[in-house]
Amino acid sequence: MSQERKVIILTGANSGLGFEALKQLIQHSTPYHLILAVRNVTETEKAISALTIPSQHSIEISKLDLSSFTSVKSFAQGLLTRDPILPLNILILNAATVKSKLSTTEDNLETTFQTNHLSYFLLINLLLDRIKWSSEQQNKLESFNSRIIFVNSSLHKPGEGHNKIGPKLEIENLDGSKGYDSMLFYKNTKLAQMLFFYQLNKLLEEEKDEKKKISIFAIEPGFVPQTELARESPSYVKLLMKYILPFASFTRTPEQGGAVIVYAATSPELEIAI
Ligand SMILES: NC(=O)c1ccc[n+]([C@@H]2O[C@H](COP(=O)([O-])OP(=O)(O)OC[C@H]3O[C@@H](n4cnc5c(N)ncnc54)[C@H](OP(=O)(O)O)[C@@H]3O)[C@@H](O)[C@H]2O)c1
Repeated sequence: MSQERKVIILTGANSGLGFEALKQLIQHSTPYHLILAVRNVTETEKAISALTIPSQHSIEISKLDLSSFTSVKSFAQGLLTRDPILPLNILILNAATVKSKLSTTEDNLETTFQTNHLSYFLLINLLLDRIKWSSEQQNKLESFNSRIIFVNSSLHKPGEGHNKIGPKLEIENLDGSKGYDSMLFYKNTKLAQMLFFYQLNKLLEEEKDEKKKISIFAIEPGFVPQTELARESPSYVKLLMKYILPFASFTRTPEQGGAVIVYAATSPELEIAI
C-alpha cells in the first residue's frame, strides 16, 4: 500500500449513509486507503462489488462488531500491530443501531449504549496515540490534522425528533432494567457521545505540540429516511420511511446525508478554520 494515501477508517460502510459516504469518497482525486470497518464482511464485499474503485484508491474490509469489546480490541490491535507506521488519518464513526427491544451484549451492557457510544470511547482510546502520530507525519507534507468524525444526530438535543421527548440519561437505568424505550435509548447514546466529544475536544486542545493536534467534528447528516436505521421498526414505520417521508421537505436524500460526512472528513476549508 502506498504511504501517500491518506488512511480512512469508515465504520458501517456497507449500508445507508456509510455506503453513500464511501461512494462519494472514491470519486475524489486525493488517493485514499479505505478501511471499511464492518460487522458483516460478506455483505460488505457484496455491496462494494457494485462499485468501480478508481486506481488511486485501495480498499480493505475489516471485521468490527461494536457490540463486543473483544471485537473492538482485536480490530484496534490488528491496526496497531500489523504495521508500526500505518497512519490513521481520518476516523469516521458512522455505524450505529436502534434496537426495538431491550437487549444485552456479551459484555452485559445494553446493546445500543455499547454499540453507539461505549465502543467508540474504547476505540478512540486505543487508537489515539497513533492518530496523533499520524497528524505529525501528515503535517510534514501538508497542513492536515488527523480527523475524527462523530456521526451524531440532532436527537441528542432536548425537544428534538418525532415525539419531542428526551434524551434523558439516567445512570441507574443505563441497562434498561427500569424501563426501555427504543428511541429514548438511541437519543441517550447520541447525548453520551456528544458529552464525550466535548470532553475529548477539551483534552485535545491541551495538546502542546501543534503538529500532533487532531481535529474532531460531530455532525448531523439530516433526517434521511431511506437508510436501514429503522430496520427493527414496525412495518408501518418502515413504509412511511421508504415511500412517504422521502418526499417531505424536511428530509434529505442519502446522497445529501453522505455529503455532510464526506465534507467533515476531507474538506480543506475546515482545516483552515481551525
Ligand atoms: N438516517 C438518519 O435520518 C440519521 C439521522 C441522524 C443521524 N444518523 C446517524 O447516521 C449514522 C448512519 O446511520 P444510517 O441512517 O445510515 O443507518 P443504517 O443504514 O442502519 O447504517 C448503520 C450502519 O451501522 C452498522 N452497525 C450496526 N450495528 C453495528 C455493530 N454492532 N457493529 C458494527 N456496525 C454496526 C450497520 O451494519 P449492519 O448492516 O451489519 O447492521 C450499518 O452499516 C448513524 O450513526 C445514525 O445514528 C442517521
